[in-house]
Amino acid sequence: MFNLLAKHPDMKCHVSDLNSDLILAYLAIRDKVTEVIESLENHSKKYEKNQSKYYYHVRESEPTSQIEKVSRLIFLNKTCFNGLYRVNSKGKFNVPLGRYTNPNIVNRENLLTVSRTLQSSNLEFFCRDFEQSLHDIKKGDFVYFDPPYQPVSNTANFTSYTNRSFTDDDLERLANLAEKLDSMGCKVLLSNSKSKIVENSFSSSKWKIKEIRVNRAINSNSKKRTGHSEILVKNY
Ligand SMILES: C[S@@+](CC[C@H](N)C(=O)[O-])C[C@H]1O[C@@H](n2cnc3c(N)ncnc32)[C@H](O)[C@@H]1O
Repeated sequence: MFNLLAKHPDMKCHVSDLNSDLILAYLAIRDKVTEVIESLENHSKKYEKNQSKYYYHVRESEPTSQIEKVSRLIFLNKTCFNGLYRVNSKGKFNVPLGRYTNPNIVNRENLLTVSRTLQSSNLEFFCRDFEQSLHDIKKGDFVYFDPPYQPVSNTANFTSYTNRSFTDDDLERLANLAEKLDSMGCKVLLSNSKSKIVENSFSSSKWKIKEIRVNRAINSNSKKRTGHSEILVKNY
């Protein structure tokens, strides 16, 4: 989206995610970026004094203000193990502290640039299930799905961005929605892991599947972090 907006600043765009904290982060960076930066600077100073103690203190905290919620999300993302986002069944973030010598907790220039981009009046944000986006999609629209990746093995189970895992049924709902959008005349693009279940869900001839090699940062075994395949599925 950021890449397309750089080329077409007036592009009309709807962004949806079920994770309310993620949507809140986009809105706070758009509307209150100076406060977000100030709050991150505060986290950064305290983290430098005692990294582990401060990390777990923030991880346990439950801030109620919008700014504090968002700076907590960014702080944890920058300092946790491999930038992973995972919550337990109660919705509590449960990733351990990462190993960084100098994490870039306050990326001021980047936050300011992102804020300016998000201020386009043609961008709208929604916290909702992907199926609900069908209501405002029309013929000719381009739709990109970036769902939680399906696990490629039993040990690679990483689907908990929200406290509700992305199940095989969700994948089936997504494939059905993609079919519907295709028949409406939309351009559909989806990224996912290279797994049998995803390839089977998009096996009809309208879907072109392209394999791409990626270096994956998220794996507890660092030797397994390189040389993975992901897929792009598209109908155009
Ligand atoms: C691979 S991440 C994509 C993150 C996003 N593209 C971004 O960069 O901000 C997968 C996302 O799918 C979201 N998600 C999970 N289940 C969903 C659902 N049923 N409807 C909509 N979004 C969902 C998760 O909250 C997570 O943010």
